[in-house]
Amino acid sequence: MEVKIRLNSVDDTQMLAEIISGYVFPGIIIGLTGDLGSGKTTFTKYLSKYIGVSDNLNSPTFTILKIYDGYYKLYHMDVYRLEDIGYDYELDEFIYGDGICVIEWYPYIKTMLPQEILSIDFRVIDEFTRDVTIKGEGPYEKIVKAISDRYCH
Ligand SMILES: Nc1ncnc2c1ncn2[C@@H]1O[C@H](COP(=O)(O)OP(=O)(O)O)[C@@H](O)[C@H]1O
Ligand SMILES: [Mg+2]
Repeated sequence: MEVKIRLNSVDDTQMLAEIISGYVFPGIIIGLTGDLGSGKTTFTKYLSKYIGVSDNLNSPTFTILKIYDGYYKLYHMDVYRLEDIGYDYELDEFIYGDGICVIEWYPYIKTMLPQEILSIDFRVIDEFTRDVTIKGEGPYEKIVKAISDRYCH
């Protein structure tokens, strides 16, 4: 299932993160795509707050993985640097762990990921506007459905 929504401000992105935070479960994988500056880290930052992370989340670009403590463990990855490599088996225990796994640029390690994830693509429309496409099948379909119910009347 797929839903497309328009976010007109950073507050809208925060609200999306809040909604999704209500549906996370141990082992969830959220894959993010979108150009640099489209909002992947901003979304993750808000999601982290809503799952009880008190540390300030920032971009993991130079470390690939950062781990945060909230109501769940949060594994925040940015696998942009793995573009030419395509995998990093040290990430396996986190991808298949029981925390919440958020992966910026997830297609670069697609072969390491399970078939089903929640994917969110951010497209920049203008300074504050983002068009977002959210997709999920199997256990993720109900999340997409819930988002759809909230936004599409
Ligand atoms: N609606 C919006 N959603 C998310 N970020 C936005 C939005 N409007 C403006 N921004 C700004 O765009 C930038 C997004 O940066 P960031 O989240 O680091 O992007 P990415 O991780 O995709 O490279 C931030 O400076 C943020 O304040
Ligand atoms: Mg980022």
